[in-house]
Amino acid sequence: MCGIVAYIGKKEAYPILIKGLQRLEYRGYDSAGVALLSNGNLNLYKKQGKVANLEAFTVGKDVSGYAGIAHTRWATHGEPNDKNAHPHYSESEEIAIIHNGIIENYDVLKEELKSRGFVFKSDTDTEVLVHLIEDIQKKEGVKLAEAVRLALLNVTGAYAIVVLSKNAPNTLVAARKSSPLVVGIGKEGDFYLASDATPIIEYTNRVVYLEDEEIAVVDLNEGFRLWNIQDEEKTPYIQELEMKLEALEKGGYEHFMLKEIHEQPRSIYDCFRGRLNAKEGWVELGGIKEFEQKIVNAQRIVMVACGTSWHACLVGEYLFEDLARINVEVEYASEFRYRNPVINEGDIVIAVSQSGETADTLAALELAKSKGATILGVCNVVGSSISRITHAGSYTHAGPEIGVASTKAFTAQVTVLTLMALAIAHKKGTITETKFHSMLTELEAIPAKVSEVLLANDKIKEIALQYKDATNALYLGRGSSFPVALEGALKLKEISYIHAEGYPAAEMKHGPIALIDEEMPVFVVATAGTSYEKVVSNIQEVKARKGKIIAIVTEGDQQVKNMADAVIEIPATDEHLVPLLATVPFQLLSYHIAVMRGCNVDQPRNLAKSVTVE
Ligand code: G6P
Repeated sequence: MCGIVAYIGKKEAYPILIKGLQRLEYRGYDSAGVALLSNGNLNLYKKQGKVANLEAFTVGKDVSGYAGIAHTRWATHGEPNDKNAHPHYSESEEIAIIHNGIIENYDVLKEELKSRGFVFKSDTDTEVLVHLIEDIQKKEGVKLAEAVRLALLNVTGAYAIVVLSKNAPNTLVAARKSSPLVVGIGKEGDFYLASDATPIIEYTNRVVYLEDEEIAVVDLNEGFRLWNIQDEEKTPYIQELEMKLEALEKGGYEHFMLKEIHEQPRSIYDCFRGRLNAKEGWVELGGIKEFEQKIVNAQRIVMVACGTSWHACLVGEYLFEDLARINVEVEYASEFRYRNPVINEGDIVIAVSQSGETADTLAALELAKSKGATILGVCNVVGSSISRITHAGSYTHAGPEIGVASTKAFTAQVTVLTLMALAIAHKKGTITETKFHSMLTELEAIPAKVSEVLLANDKIKEIALQYKDATNALYLGRGSSFPVALEGALKLKEISYIHAEGYPAAEMKHGPIALIDEEMPVFVVATAGTSYEKVVSNIQEVKARKGKIIAIVTEGDQQVKNMADAVIEIPATDEHLVPLLATVPFQLLSYHIAVMRGCNVDQPRNLAKSVTVE
């Protein structure tokens, strides 16, 4: 959360920074700001609201300059208004800073600085840091980078910062701890810095991901140098990224979310490409190969995640328990880390995270690692913090996901967990050869079946029109369709602001049934499989109370069709793979309802895509 971007070089910085902020807006969009060095002046503009507001605000103002820093904010300390927007000036207005993270001891530092006469212009934790840097630089007479280093020694918390000073016009100083930061090495001796590679990729694919407590100095005369806060010089590790620019654009779709929903046949395919072959009968995840035997021997797997990724873990629980016969516990990372969780020797902890940066998930993994567990990651973003701290892992290869509401990342996570469960089950001998082969064949057929589901778009739009004004909605499912119900409800509430709840279908009788009346849409996954008859009974219970049933059924179903107010058919598949298909109509339904209600689907209020604060 919070996106930071900076540039120094021979080009005009402002257009690069604005474009970069737009690419990072999914990280937060409460306010935006920019600081530019121009002819010895340090100009700073910031505005509440989206980047577009900032652009409108700077019309007619001096936005020239070859060095600048910019920020899009998701508020933590201090409400989202102009004064709390970043960048923040130092007292003399000679230094400006952008920050992503939380300075936890800001209160103590602020009191101390105030007692020495510093005047604060904002309610943020960040402003403390810029005053501290200036104070140290003046007192110690050191260079900007050294002042930043000394200031950071006083700070506890998380930060990714970039500092720009009037007195060091050829230099940007950056540092990170717990919040991500990437440096792009430009082709013309210039440098790009950002929270992730998306604002950088159109200029260069050569990047350096900063490690915790590293300080980077990019200087137009001296180039790129790296230290840690203990003042030891480090050698930057330059990586070449393969990300394509088109992946960051809407490609003709009205919203990123719609594009990403439609990308799923490809993203699921990319996820298993080269990892399974149904004809030859094998599945292999190179990234975790070394740990396969450990997983086979494990008494228990703990999965930690947040949000949609947590729902993917719930699907994973069914897969691992049923196919590989390993006990699985699925934990909210934020709860897990603050208990005193029992981690036994031999336990495997798997973190699932699209961004690979979610603060709680990261902290839960660190805790598990410190207690001796083997920690594995299932991440989408290559080079992300989780992928770097884990012993091993498997990328989902879904490609950049920009819409705040997760869609293709979820189906890719479920695909990876399916591959893992199948590989372990096969090695462990808990799955018959026939079942193994038929599941591989079915998995290979999933992308084509998702394409078929997407053809129901117009029908789903009609259903959306009918229920767009609902104030409440209930989502029901059983077995591995229960997480699908949870995910369906989450999608609806996060982008359309309709209150929605997901429930295991049978559990409805223990509470939610009291809410059912003729106004209440109840979305049910009622596909063929072991619990079909049970779900049919649950549908009867809703109908008996005049609730509206919209059901996802297997192609050719008649029984539910006769009872439901509307049905959406999905192709038949192996029961374990139903979540990969049944999730898609719910994504489309939420999308259309949100659009019809005039909501900003890609940037829903109060949310951010990458939650890098706890
Ligand atoms: C935020 C996003 C969700 C995401 C969750 C976990 O809440 O809005 O879409 O599921 O974080 O993020 P992660 O990157 O760890 O999957």
